[in-house]
Amino acid sequence: MNYYYITGTSRGIGKALAELLLKDPSNNVIGISRTRSIEHAKYRHFHLDLTDVNATADFKFEIHANAKKIVLINNAGSMGFIKPVGKLNSAVIIKNYTLNLIAPSVLTNAFIECYDTSDAEKIILNISSGAGKKPVDGWAVYCASKAGIDMFSQVVNAEQKIRIENPETDIHGGFKIFSIAPGVVNTTMQDEIRKASKDDFSRLEDFIDYKKNNTLLEPEAVSQKFVHLLSDTNNIKEILSSLKDYELQ
Ligand SMILES: NC(=O)c1ccc[n+]([C@@H]2O[C@H](COP(=O)([O-])OP(=O)(O)OC[C@H]3O[C@@H](n4cnc5c(N)ncnc54)[C@H](OP(=O)(O)O)[C@@H]3O)[C@@H](O)[C@H]2O)c1
Repeated sequence: MNYYYITGTSRGIGKALAELLLKDPSNNVIGISRTRSIEHAKYRHFHLDLTDVNATADFKFEIHANAKKIVLINNAGSMGFIKPVGKLNSAVIIKNYTLNLIAPSVLTNAFIECYDTSDAEKIILNISSGAGKKPVDGWAVYCASKAGIDMFSQVVNAEQKIRIENPETDIHGGFKIFSIAPGVVNTTMQDEIRKASKDDFSRLEDFIDYKKNNTLLEPEAVSQKFVHLLSDTNNIKEILSSLKDYELQ
């Protein structure tokens, strides 16, 4: 049996990922978000507000004795307010970093602690963004949180590499971790971006055009690529990459 913990399964990329994985009877999906929108015999839902740090810290991963593969997909995320720094709201800054960076860090730590001695294949996939690699005006907290999750992933990878290279001290095998950007995807996040004010966001017209010209990727197509990569992580070229680097065979 395979077990996939996915944050943000109520809509968008997370929902499409969960629904695709559930088509395979050997997969179980445990979804985490504030609302539930999936009903399936192999799906369980945890209602959790990931901006509530204490509630996130209390989340418990379960022991799956029959697991062949256990995966954590840190997908939940939000753009927060689109405004230049100086016009942001402090409470929104704090919530946005908490959702996009603190919650995935806390969950990754708990995931590694829980499955440290499991002999299953153990994978962490962080859904990152091109915005973590280059600055976008109006998106300071989003860009910084995605850059943070990229660096967090690289450090965890370095730590796990040390374990994997010393099998005599570690018989259970390490964790693989990847931080992969999906591209520009037709979800509620894009709806929110198009509602920004032109005065606060110089690239507003580009994002309106992506929708108008039908160049947005669909969550189902993006999920197919993610599921393909997770089926054999040897296909993943780098710790940090983008889905556009991969073609489906
Ligand atoms: N769409 C894009 O173009 C794009 C591009 C690059 C990267 N990404 C990344 O892809 C990931 C998924 O984005 P998406 O476009 O699918 O977004 P979305 O459609 O807005 O979905 C976001 C998901 O996150 C959950 N979420 C939001 N706030 C939460 C909270 N406080 N606690 C728990 N769950 C919460 C939502 O569930 P509830 O509201 O029910 O809690 C929802 O299921 C994000 O990390 C995003 O940064 C997206």
